[in-house]
Amino acid sequence: MLRRPRRNRKSTAIRDMVEETRLSTKDFMYPLFLLEGKSKSIAVESMPGIHRLSVDLMLKEIDTCMNLGINAFDIFPVVDEKHKDKLATKSHNPNFFYLQALEEIKDKFPEACIMTDVAMDPYSTDGHDGIVDEYGNILNDESLEVLGAMALAQAETGADIIGPSDMMDGRVEYIREILDDNGFEDTSIMSYTAKYASAFYGPFRDALDSAPKSGDKKTYQMNPANLREAIIEAELDEEEGADFLMVKPALAYLDVIKLLRDNFDLPIAAYNVSGEYAMLKAAAQKGWLDNDTAMMEMLLSMKRAGAKVILTYFAKEAALLMK
Ligand code: PBG
Repeated sequence: MLRRPRRNRKSTAIRDMVEETRLSTKDFMYPLFLLEGKSKSIAVESMPGIHRLSVDLMLKEIDTCMNLGINAFDIFPVVDEKHKDKLATKSHNPNFFYLQALEEIKDKFPEACIMTDVAMDPYSTDGHDGIVDEYGNILNDESLEVLGAMALAQAETGADIIGPSDMMDGRVEYIREILDDNGFEDTSIMSYTAKYASAFYGPFRDALDSAPKSGDKKTYQMNPANLREAIIEAELDEEEGADFLMVKPALAYLDVIKLLRDNFDLPIAAYNVSGEYAMLKAAAQKGWLDNDTAMMEMLLSMKRAGAKVILTYFAKEAALLMK
């Protein structure tokens, strides 16, 4: 036998030397759930280890994470039902708690990278990412106005990256133009490029109480059966001025990550979503899977597939383990 691949696996030193993919805490972006008020921490039942936090506690959490080498955060507000309406107006009201909190966070941690989410669902009585008409249709072009106002309000807080997760057509260009027209040409856009109509968002919708009140998201989020359609979305986002292309979910869509990595030069992000997190946590709690090794293997697979950025609820845990 001339070829024996096992020779390159014979010791830790050699295995480390030939290791092709290595995770870094700098790859991670940590999604955080923001509560209105003070000194509040409420566990997300379907996401063991994850809490919704008021801004004072979130500042502490960000500080802890930055000491672990995590510098990027994606912040999602939990909006009380009484603040929701048909047009998600609170999403761009500068006095609303989440925009104030974002300002506070950027003030305290100017060197942190803060991303914000653009979609109507957390602020809308319909729980959809766009405006819903009387027949239950999601109106594309009318929604752009709200999304644009939301993006601008978020940019005004100092947010570094705007993350449109709504999947309306043309929103990247629409948001890019509004940002540029208002002097925010340095604010980046991480587009949710290939966002699938997935069952894996359930725990996130629990955390924010943002599930659609009727219907589903299949007329705007992509069909899980489609791969080539991701190319169309990616071409559009690139033309429209996106700085990052995101694939979401991650684990069940590694082929999509790889496809975009092979065909586009923009950095690819993978969103390791709430359901993927919950799945491992549930199995680990039962003792059916080893949390730490399975977690690292999952994260590694996303990077190996071609993701440069990994949005993950495991960020803090993984960083502690990598220390
Ligand atoms: C809002 C949004 C969702 C997620 C991120 N932004 C939910 C959805 O589209 O229904 C899901 C994130 C996760 O599951 O971790 N549009």
